[in-house]
Amino acid sequence: MTSRPETLAIIGASGFIGRELAREAAAAGWSVCGFSRKVKRRDGVVAEWRDWREVPDFSGISAVVNMAGEPINQRWTADAKRRFYDSRIGATSRIVRGLSMLGRTERPHVLVNASAVGIYGERGDEILEEGAPTGTGYLAELCQAWEDAADGVGRLGPRVVKLRSGIVLGKEGESFKKMLLPFRLGLGGRLGTGKQWMPWIHVADLIAAILFCIRGGGIAGPVNGSAPEPERNEDFTRKLAAALQRPAALAVPEFALRWMMGDFASALVGSQRAVPRVLLESGFGFRFPTLEMAMADLVGTGAASA
Ligand SMILES: NC(=O)c1ccc[n+]([C@@H]2O[C@H](COP(=O)([O-])OP(=O)(O)OC[C@H]3O[C@@H](n4cnc5c(N)ncnc54)[C@H](OP(=O)(O)O)[C@@H]3O)[C@@H](O)[C@H]2O)c1
Repeated sequence: MTSRPETLAIIGASGFIGRELAREAAAAGWSVCGFSRKVKRRDGVVAEWRDWREVPDFSGISAVVNMAGEPINQRWTADAKRRFYDSRIGATSRIVRGLSMLGRTERPHVLVNASAVGIYGERGDEILEEGAPTGTGYLAELCQAWEDAADGVGRLGPRVVKLRSGIVLGKEGESFKKMLLPFRLGLGGRLGTGKQWMPWIHVADLIAAILFCIRGGGIAGPVNGSAPEPERNEDFTRKLAAALQRPAALAVPEFALRWMMGDFASALVGSQRAVPRVLLESGFGFRFPTLEMAMADLVGTGAASA
């Protein structure tokens, strides 16, 4: 007799990370239940959640991954800030409500909730392990409120992992696609001084890390979702250009970034030298530990459909 697969709920299943996670989890034997406003019946995902304002029904679910969040790579108008907040803190609070409606023994055993390295604020060259104090500024405070909301799940019993991702590099990622375009045109260059640290992670490693955290019963609390070697923006720029065999001689001054993008520019020039201590100490192995390896896979001459 074959046992029934366990069910993984993914909130934000239509997004870049959610889609990749749904595919990998289904391939790893999970039954996947996608919660999203527009997820299609494919890759083992079923539409379940039409609106994040509804309280989700987690009956029969073993693990929950919450990847919902209005994209922050836009102008931070008052309306956009409301959407950033509602889609993160609002959605996470609904997850808490959904879990509280089940009996203790019926609840999923783990929640992996998205967060971001932006929680550390502007930190210059300081090495940031998960135990480092969180920072100040708009993004840091947004992420802190998001993590505080996720802690509400911990009070109900399930283990909570707060996944502080760096920039996620993948062919399907909007940020990465936007980053590539100027480089392909030979117009790539560093942002601001270029000295700021950029934690990054290949999407394949992020997905593997999420599944690792679900299985790894001892992992709880903040987890930096970034490769072991963060890069300064100027080195990231140089390595990306080299992988594309294009020049990267230009530089975009901070005032020009602020003029083009408003306050979002602070996310591009902010420095977080985050390192994934929890993952490494838990025995997680990165497939793409260096940026050169990640770039070779994503845009190098041997990469498919780069
Ligand atoms: N990608 C990165 O580099 C990165 C780095 C650090 C942190 N993160 C965080 O990780 C999470 C997933 O990232 P991603 O790149 O997969 O994002 P994404 O592709 O933009 O997908 C985000 C998901 O959030 C939902 N969503 C978007 N706007 C919403 C709104 N206003 N109200 C309710 N739901 C909304 C969407 O679901 P619907 O189908 O319902 O529209 C979508 O499935 C996000 O919270 C992001 O902030 C990402």
